[in-house]
Amino acid sequence: MTSMTPRPFPHDFLFGVATAAYQIEGAAFEDGRTASIWDAFTRVPGAVVNGDNADVACDHYHRYRDDVALMKDLGLQTYRFSTSWSRVRPDGGAVNRAGVDFYSRLVDELLDAGILPWLTLYHWDMPQALQDAGGWTNRDTVERFVEYAGTVHDALGDRVGVWTTLNEPWCASFLSYTGGEHAPGHTSIAEGLLASHHLLLAHGRTVEELRSRDANLNLGITLNHTVADPADPQNPADVDAARRVDGQFNRWFLDPIYRGAYPADIVEDIRAVDPEAVSLFESAIHEGDLAAISARIDTHGVNYYHGDLVAGSAPADAPVSGGPATARPGRSPYPSDAGIHSVERGLPRTAQNWEVQPEGLTRLLRRVWEEYARPAGTMLSVTENGAAYDDVVGDDGLVHDDDRTRFLRLHLDAVLDAVESGVDVRGYFYWSLLDNFEWAWGYDKRFGLVRVDYDTQERTVKDSGREYARIIAARAL
Ligand code: BG6
Repeated sequence: MTSMTPRPFPHDFLFGVATAAYQIEGAAFEDGRTASIWDAFTRVPGAVVNGDNADVACDHYHRYRDDVALMKDLGLQTYRFSTSWSRVRPDGGAVNRAGVDFYSRLVDELLDAGILPWLTLYHWDMPQALQDAGGWTNRDTVERFVEYAGTVHDALGDRVGVWTTLNEPWCASFLSYTGGEHAPGHTSIAEGLLASHHLLLAHGRTVEELRSRDANLNLGITLNHTVADPADPQNPADVDAARRVDGQFNRWFLDPIYRGAYPADIVEDIRAVDPEAVSLFESAIHEGDLAAISARIDTHGVNYYHGDLVAGSAPADAPVSGGPATARPGRSPYPSDAGIHSVERGLPRTAQNWEVQPEGLTRLLRRVWEEYARPAGTMLSVTENGAAYDDVVGDDGLVHDDDRTRFLRLHLDAVLDAVESGVDVRGYFYWSLLDNFEWAWGYDKRFGLVRVDYDTQERTVKDSGREYARIIAARAL
């Protein structure tokens, strides 16, 4: 960062941005789309800050052409977006041609603009009708998901080469079915465990299905990670807290995907808390499931926002690491959470009180590469990284978001540190292109490189967006 010499990126490194269907599209009940679990959840009092919902969001469904033009202006090479299950197969049932056609038009628009489409099949918006039948706790949902994936592939397989099955299964399982913070807002350890297994199985079965259709597809999954450090590396309780956070957040997904087994230490930790939940979970693992889950993947998407300094014992009122973002009553998303506490280490923080810890990204990429991806022949990309700040529109009508610009530069620098140490990182996607509906935070938190005025839907490129465009043009930091 201090060096004045530009730091180049590898010649084939891809620069992109990420979004998700529910967070930007709006048109929630248009052209045949029916309710997803998030449409239902946003109607639960207190579930979302200010009672916001995403019925309109960024109105991207109607403005996608302008948004793609904006991406082209910024020089973006690739765009990571998700398709909405509720649009493509409303209620998880028959194919909705109008829904499929929207994505087909979007992909054509991207290709015309010279932008590589990077598609995610599940960014959390399951049809509510399937949730009524148990959602991810119901094994049948796995087959419904594979059908839906097949429909999307039928329509777009000729033009989309990069396919991500799931975005952040930790959020879709433990944060949603155990922590209660995301839809469907349940607080059950057993449900979180079952959901995690069925999500992973849906991933594995989809990889098998798409691979059998086309061996040339680039198939993968996106996981969210944390870097859990013990407050005092000499204190066994702190070291154990870090092990448990890492195990429940990272290894719970990494191990089955790469090694075909759930981490035994974590299974035993959870058994000590809720033996019945673990026995339900174990009986949900059928013969062949782990082989499917560990089907080879080409790309592992790494999402990184912040790390976690944790202690194993702390004052009773210290915050539980990973606790709810909103005031809504919930529980920790960690089944085995007793005694795990976040510790302040004086790092700068974003508007969500998340630490800014770029060095954690370098360590994370090295670790995932060494321990998991390299041995499997899998490539890495940073599929999300970004920050919310309380942006202000200046008298000049612009957004001088120096804090976000700094965040972006620091994290790109951290990616280059990993690349230079031999990690095969193929791309970086800033979260997000636009300010958008940030789940439990509603519209209260802004992550975009582009500001959205929710009254007029006007888009304004922030200083951070201009800086990203400069970096992309120079292919150097
Ligand atoms: C990731 C998600 O967890 O973080 C995004 O994949 C999300 O969809 C982003 O918007 C920011 O998180 P949050 O909870 O602040 O919206």
